[in-house]
Amino acid sequence: MKTLPQVNAHPEDHCEVCGLSKVVVTIGRSMRVVAASPVMQRLLKRAALFADADAPVVIFGESGTGKEVIARALHANSPRRAAAFVAVNVAALPADLLESELFGHARGAFTGATDEKRGLMEAAGGGTLFLDEIGEMPLPLQAKLLRALQDGEIRRVGDTRAFAVDVRFVCATHRDLGDLVARGQFREDLYYRLKVLTLTVPPLRERREDIAPLAETLLAAEKQQGARFSAAALQSLASYDWPGNVRELSNVIKHGVALARGGEIRPEHLPDELGAKRPGQTPSRPRGAPELKTLAAAERDHVLAVLEACGGSQVDAARVLGIGRNTLWRKLGAYRLDASAATLGGAPGSALSARTRRG
Ligand SMILES: Nc1ncnc2c1ncn2[C@@H]1O[C@H](COP(=O)(O)OP(=O)(O)OP(=O)(O)O)[C@@H](O)[C@H]1O
Ligand SMILES: [Mg+2]
Repeated sequence: MKTLPQVNAHPEDHCEVCGLSKVVVTIGRSMRVVAASPVMQRLLKRAALFADADAPVVIFGESGTGKEVIARALHANSPRRAAAFVAVNVAALPADLLESELFGHARGAFTGATDEKRGLMEAAGGGTLFLDEIGEMPLPLQAKLLRALQDGEIRRVGDTRAFAVDVRFVCATHRDLGDLVARGQFREDLYYRLKVLTLTVPPLRERREDIAPLAETLLAAEKQQGARFSAAALQSLASYDWPGNVRELSNVIKHGVALARGGEIRPEHLPDELGAKRPGQTPSRPRGAPELKTLAAAERDHVLAVLEACGGSQVDAARVLGIGRNTLWRKLGAYRLDASAATLGGAPGSALSARTRRG
């Protein structure tokens, strides 16, 4: 098997089994790619095999999973590593601006184009052009990109002359490109032209082994002396579902560092959505799981839901609930008492305040 060329990797970080570094390349000066889970190790092995090829690569994955990190690792391990890695967020620019940014423009091409300008494709010459959020590329530009891919040539906006560019294309998207093709929002020919080599970065919740090492790496990057996680904080991080993936983890760590003020990061320093267990609080629950509530609260919510579904008729609601009308009436009275006690500081529940009929 081909081994991944190392860029600033630490020999002690090599996996004894696959020979691949757990920490593959340095991203910037202080950040390293973390891949402790088998699924990420497999992904990096695949990326290592793709690094030498010059064919386009598409990196799929939810937002914040580390698609750009993988793109940078790919470039850093490719024969193009000495040349530029140019990242362009396709979704961030309006179509006209994106076209002139990517392809450049001739002098006088449009109002304000007082000079000719090199595009980012030229700037990436000999290196890698990373097109992030490729699924958002406007259709007319997709046609122009296809020509660049097919012929290796581009034309600046407002220029008739074409010239060759030597760029490796790496694209990323959180969208299902096949679905965009089916809906006519992405060119089928471009799809097949780009989708030569593909990598899929799994969401963080599917590679929980990466959470702790990522958290430690991201904490170290904060350069806050003495900052460390308590065992309970690490537990909270490990059991959360991370809908925003590594980017969310990075933000949570910044939050923790700010609140812990250089001391130990404990669950109370983490954002509420992590559901960290605090004294007197209900335990955290996985995303999508039902809200954890007391039996009395569950009964109250169910009774009120049935009442609402019965258009406020207590007779119908009692029949559906399988209880006597008087029992229902007593329960509603008790809920009203609870609600008015609670509303000394807030609004009562909507179903409770809805008119109910004893009929
Ligand atoms: N394996 C990793 N090792 C170290 N840092 C990582 C890793 N994966 C992601 N990160 C960090 O998480 C953040 C998000 O990563 P990145 O920008 O590559 O994600 P993305 O998938 O491109 O996100 P988006 O879809 O929002 O563009 C970055 O700060 C990055 O440095
Ligand atoms: Mg990105």
